[in-house]
Amino acid sequence: MLTRAKLRLMQNHRMHRQPLAAIGMFIALFVWAPGHAKDAGKLANVMILATGGTIAGTGTTSTTAVGYTAATVGIEALIEAVPNLKKVANVTGEQVFQIASENMNNDYWLKLAKRVNTLLAQNDVDGIVITHGTDTIEETAYFLNLVVKSQKPVVIVGAMRPSTAISADGPINLYNAVILAGSKAAVGKGVLVSLNDQINGARDVTKTNTSTADTFRTPELGFLGYMQDNRPHFYRESTRKKTIDTEFDIMNLDSLPRVDIVYGYANEDRVAIDAFVAAGANGRVHAVVGDGSLARPAVEPALIEARKRGMVIVRSSRVGNGIVARNGEAKDDELDFVVSDTLNPQKARVLLMLALTKTSDTKEIQRMFYTY
Ligand code: SIN
Repeated sequence: MLTRAKLRLMQNHRMHRQPLAAIGMFIALFVWAPGHAKDAGKLANVMILATGGTIAGTGTTSTTAVGYTAATVGIEALIEAVPNLKKVANVTGEQVFQIASENMNNDYWLKLAKRVNTLLAQNDVDGIVITHGTDTIEETAYFLNLVVKSQKPVVIVGAMRPSTAISADGPINLYNAVILAGSKAAVGKGVLVSLNDQINGARDVTKTNTSTADTFRTPELGFLGYMQDNRPHFYRESTRKKTIDTEFDIMNLDSLPRVDIVYGYANEDRVAIDAFVAAGANGRVHAVVGDGSLARPAVEPALIEARKRGMVIVRSSRVGNGIVARNGEAKDDELDFVVSDTLNPQKARVLLMLALTKTSDTKEIQRMFYTY
């Protein structure tokens, strides 16, 4: 068996020339891992849907941790890099698309969600793993959490280091994700985001660091559990509705309403707000300062006008934690605004898009923000 020191030396010499062969070296890190079974003696059928990201990225050298190219390695190579996957589940791979996740858009989301729903309706699929870039993983996770119509596990996984890097985190993250997706413990837990031996729920997880492997956190509310000893350990769950308990159905949709985010800051004026009105947006999330305060007179009048033109306005916060209270920093009842509760702006955008597929009634939309 290769020692870690030997492995590192070999990586330093060879990885930049042979990225896929280098991925294979990570095999050595996993050969001792015991198998995992859904039921005693029966492996779960886990489908891995690949979408790109750093987990499928390659750098020019083994020490390239920034400036690498995301979304270059295909699903078969990712699976081959972790042979022990076959001991913990019957894995099948499918390349749904191959993008860096900053290029994620509504069309990709609809395509992915439809594929997930179709596969989970099959008796021969027990769970799904989605490999994804980390930049927008939280938005994709929350979108799927609201539109997947199954209790079966869906686990989204990424990596902070490209596949060619020293101590790439992709192989161990993928290994854990497959175990999680094949586990009974993950049934009914909604869409999960698992990296760095931790399990986060889709609603509250967020990326907190631009580059470190422990970037995914559920600030203040806490992550759901750990991956350890080849199995999940759950400790908590969100109280908010998800998957089969939501009212959203995207299976017959080809597009989603336009919703934008405006960021609040000192010296903000109405230029961005008016530009989105001119672009014909259906809804707007305002990532307001503090607990939802709107600059007066620079910003609030523009939002009032936008609302009168039919745009749904959601007050969220740029702070990152805490509740934006209804009728707290603005007269929401009077102005007909909606508040995001604890959803961060990018998640509030996802929910508002889906809400607008059902209704433009702001009371109903507010109910949804307190439900999901
Ligand atoms: C991406 O989001 O596709 C690039 C960054 C990453 O996956 O960590």
